[in-house]
Amino acid sequence: MPLHKVLLTEFLLFTAISVPVSGQQHPFQTAFKSESTFQFHQPIKHVAVVGAGPSGLQATARLIEHNFTVRLFDRAPHPGGNWQYSEETAVREPYPDKPAGDYYAEIPAQIPTRRYYKEGDDGLTLDYRWREHWRPRPVWYNLFTNSPKVSTELPDVPYDPDVSWVLDRATIQRHVRSYASHHCLNSNDHCPPKTNPSAPPVTSYSTRVERVEKDEESHTWVLTLRRLERLRESDRILEEWWTERFDAVFLAAGPWASTHVPDIPGIVDWSKAKVGEQYSVYHSQTYRHPERYAGKRVLVVGASVSASEIARDISPYAERIVASVRPPKELTVRRKLALSRFPNGTEIVPEIASFEPLKAHTNGIRDGKIHLINGTVLQGIDEIIFATGYRSSPLYPHNLTTRTPQDTLWTGHWVQDPTIAYSVGRTWTLGRYQAYGIAKVWAGKAPLPPLDNPGDGETKPPSMEWFGEDIFRRYVTWLNDASLKYGDRFVEPPPIENLEALKYYSVVHFLTANVTALEDIGLSSVSMLLGEFKVQDPWAALVDEDDDW
Ligand SMILES: Cc1cc2nc3c(=O)[nH]c(=O)nc-3n(C[C@H](O)[C@H](O)[C@H](O)COP(=O)(O)OP(=O)(O)OC[C@H]3O[C@@H](n4cnc5c(N)ncnc54)[C@H](O)[C@@H]3O)c2cc1C
Ligand SMILES: NC(=O)c1ccc[n+]([C@@H]2O[C@H](COP(=O)([O-])OP(=O)(O)OC[C@H]3O[C@@H](n4cnc5c(N)ncnc54)[C@H](OP(=O)(O)O)[C@@H]3O)[C@@H](O)[C@H]2O)c1
Ligand SMILES: *[C@@H]1O[C@H](CO)[C@@H](O)[C@H](O)[C@H]1NC(C)=O
Ligand SMILES: *[C@@H]1O[C@H](CO)[C@@H](O)[C@H](O)[C@H]1NC(C)=O
Ligand SMILES: *[C@@H]1O[C@H](CO)[C@@H](O)[C@H](O)[C@H]1NC(C)=O
Ligand SMILES: *[C@@H]1O[C@H](CO)[C@@H](O)[C@H](O)[C@H]1NC(C)=O
Ligand SMILES: *[C@@H]1O[C@H](CO)[C@@H](O)[C@H](O)[C@H]1NC(C)=O
Repeated sequence: MPLHKVLLTEFLLFTAISVPVSGQQHPFQTAFKSESTFQFHQPIKHVAVVGAGPSGLQATARLIEHNFTVRLFDRAPHPGGNWQYSEETAVREPYPDKPAGDYYAEIPAQIPTRRYYKEGDDGLTLDYRWREHWRPRPVWYNLFTNSPKVSTELPDVPYDPDVSWVLDRATIQRHVRSYASHHCLNSNDHCPPKTNPSAPPVTSYSTRVERVEKDEESHTWVLTLRRLERLRESDRILEEWWTERFDAVFLAAGPWASTHVPDIPGIVDWSKAKVGEQYSVYHSQTYRHPERYAGKRVLVVGASVSASEIARDISPYAERIVASVRPPKELTVRRKLALSRFPNGTEIVPEIASFEPLKAHTNGIRDGKIHLINGTVLQGIDEIIFATGYRSSPLYPHNLTTRTPQDTLWTGHWVQDPTIAYSVGRTWTLGRYQAYGIAKVWAGKAPLPPLDNPGDGETKPPSMEWFGEDIFRRYVTWLNDASLKYGDRFVEPPPIENLEALKYYSVVHFLTANVTALEDIGLSSVSMLLGEFKVQDPWAALVDEDDDW
């Protein structure tokens, strides 16, 4: 866990407005004293954005505004990122986890190329190919946001004032798609610039970026792309492969690229068990509707948001809900909140040690024996939902991952080569500043912050290991400083009312969390902490995407 997580967790609400003490104290004005001497090898003109979620959409809008030729790729057929609800579910996760995370296709020797597939080719259905390609999202029908609308909102397309603070997934999906439409980035939009009516469309949906490689000779990035199209009338799938070159790439592929299931002894055997067509053991990414759980006995594995929210959703239907919880490594405020949200009557049990081999795979797991680490055997379970989280995936080459690496500048630029930038921080709030900053740097309208210089503590770049308010102030100051020097718009910090609203929301949601029911599974630390249960700095909550929102 990076240092900033620990610091954020311990940082308390009530110091929100004073400037927090960080490790190294410089007077504020000197933050940008050493402008980077970094020179891009050539002017940046063509930029690729990977991912049309809230982050990639904002970056694309700002890059277009700065007159770049932009291409936006997403494997999904529409914009929205994580927030595209579908009845379709992702293809079944591997048991155990694949080492490399997601499945990547073998890249054809000859590119460009086109191939047609019919039902059953290579033993795969068309439906499987399609779902594998776009990866239906892990959102369920009754999902609500666990972040309030003030910190889950994109610019330009405000929510209706009467929309509840807690958003249902349909509202947030429409919101993200409205943002895409507003900026002419929806799947059937095309608005070529007046100066170049024959410009290619900005967006390419159903297009998976399979590889991102630097061509050191031309100093360009070569993206290997694969697009699938369902040809309904001929009942085929068309697959197209091609490459495109870019001067710079913004990676906004989201951190939830592939699932994680723990490698518990016996899990591979149990993962084969079915009742009819329904697997008895599956990852929470497949969860959609609660009605199917009527009369069922369900074991949910995990102690975070998916675990407790799914348990809550099925609780009016399920006959029995058991939750296997391991004491959290790090007891963040939001983790405590998640624990407190298991529905009444949930039986909390310790971690699973092993699954006893099943006699058959055709009649489910009800007779199977689950050994818990305290020696107890659990039986009579109908379905197991692994709400055990997600992992990032590599985008080839393996040193580029979909999750932001440690060696990025606070602006999101990759230290090793700032023609790559990653989405950093909470995209709904910090994202708008980052998108603008990335566009400015690549347009030559803002300097890069100093690049890392190993061994010299003084020039080490200020990283994300900062407190919430700090990073907003730096962003605003840096952007406006650059606009003053090089021309461009000025920006304002988030309105203070948002902080007030967030503070209020946090108090209502976090301070009322009841976690006393969890004492007997080694979580006594949770209830011990209850006495000093504090809300985090709301600025920090505005910044940190990873922190369980
Ligand atoms: C179940 C669930 C519930 C959540 N609830 C909340 C919540 O309540 N509040 C909150 O703030 N956040 C929540 N989140 C976090 C969510 O990720 C963010 O809200 C937000 O969607 C992040 O935006 P993004 O643009 O960074 O990434 P995403 O929305 O994940 O978008 C990334 C996009 O990149 C695309 N992509 C990935 N790899 C490739 C590739 N190789 N080629 C082409 N395209 C690619 C994906 O198809 C996707 O569309 C939740 C996440 C999950 C999984
Ligand atoms: N809006 C919503 O209501 C909503 C709903 C779902 C998800 N989300 C968001 O989506 C993101 C992912 O959430 P998530 O809950 O799916 O994943 P997560 O936060 O990564 O949690 C995974 C859980 O599985 C546990 N786990 C992992 N391996 C385990 C093992 N071997 N045995 C027992 N437990 C194990 C983890 O425990 P450790 O902590 O000990 O590793 C953790 O409790 C979060 O940002 C969350 O806020 C939001
Ligand atoms: C983009 O180009 C237009 C037309 O040439 C120009 O007016 C505008 O200032 C440019 N925008 C930026 C941010 O450079
Ligand atoms: C759970 O039980 C408590 C105390 O009995 C009660 O106040 C609360 O409403 C119940 N919650 C649900 C979701 O049923
Ligand atoms: C193990 O945990 C279960 C569920 O919490 C509990 O019922 C049981 O008594 C525990 N067994 C031992 C030996 O502690
Ligand atoms: C990334 O990995 C490739 C091959 O594995 C290697 O050639 C390249 O130098 C690496 N790039 C960086 C910046 O580390
Ligand atoms: C908290 O949970 C415990 C155990 O389930 C219960 O006895 C208690 O009444 C709850 N407290 C509140 C304030 O709901």
